[in-house]
Amino acid sequence: MKIFVVTAFPGLLSGPLAESIIRLAQESGIVQIELVDLRDFTTDKHRQVDDYPYGGGPGMILKPEPFFRAVEAIEKKGKLVNPRVLQMTPQGKRFNQGLAKEFSRLDNLIFLCGHYKGVDERVLEHLVTDELSIGDYVLTGGELAAAVIIDAVVRLLPGAIGDVDSALSDSFENNRLDCPHYTRPEEYRGMKVPEVLLSGHHARIEEWRLNKALEKTKAVRADLLNNE
Ligand code: ADE
Repeated sequence: MKIFVVTAFPGLLSGPLAESIIRLAQESGIVQIELVDLRDFTTDKHRQVDDYPYGGGPGMILKPEPFFRAVEAIEKKGKLVNPRVLQMTPQGKRFNQGLAKEFSRLDNLIFLCGHYKGVDERVLEHLVTDELSIGDYVLTGGELAAAVIIDAVVRLLPGAIGDVDSALSDSFENNRLDCPHYTRPEEYRGMKVPEVLLSGHHARIEEWRLNKALEKTKAVRADLLNNE
């Protein structure tokens, strides 16, 4: 998979993409991630990416031209035809594990990161295929949202995480949250690991895990149980 991220603040993403599983996935060639500086696609000497909103009001709006030029340059360079272009915005569809799986099957993804008050609507109407939000809160920009989505997608790519079964037991698989987990020591400051996990009885352990997962889901995310 090849991922391009168009942003006026590449430094916000370089850290998260250079650690742990996402770093290893890049080093082993499972994914290539390229940060594309929006300012490289401006034409004025101040490399200005934003301007005042027509009609007045507070906040600055990201101009359309640098986004169109950046995406055209990416398409040309990567020989991409009709790639998915994902705009990070609080007005977008809520990202979830189902979308992470869908994106993990694609060869290319282009992320566009907004900042300030937002992005010129013509970008959303004519360039973007998916408007995505990572939750009902407002971030200073789309960069951290893009990092979240890239992380969720890349860990699903074949070979990215060593243990395939680990992804299959994740939260949101089968519309429920993951069960609790324990490791050594067996007892810590009087807090004991549940007996059943030490029993070696696989059927009982599975039953316990399922019950705990359902209990947790019912308590904090009952909405998931109604999802098909
Ligand atoms: N940009 C600002 N807030 C955001 C959010 N919640 N999700 C995605 N992009 C954003």
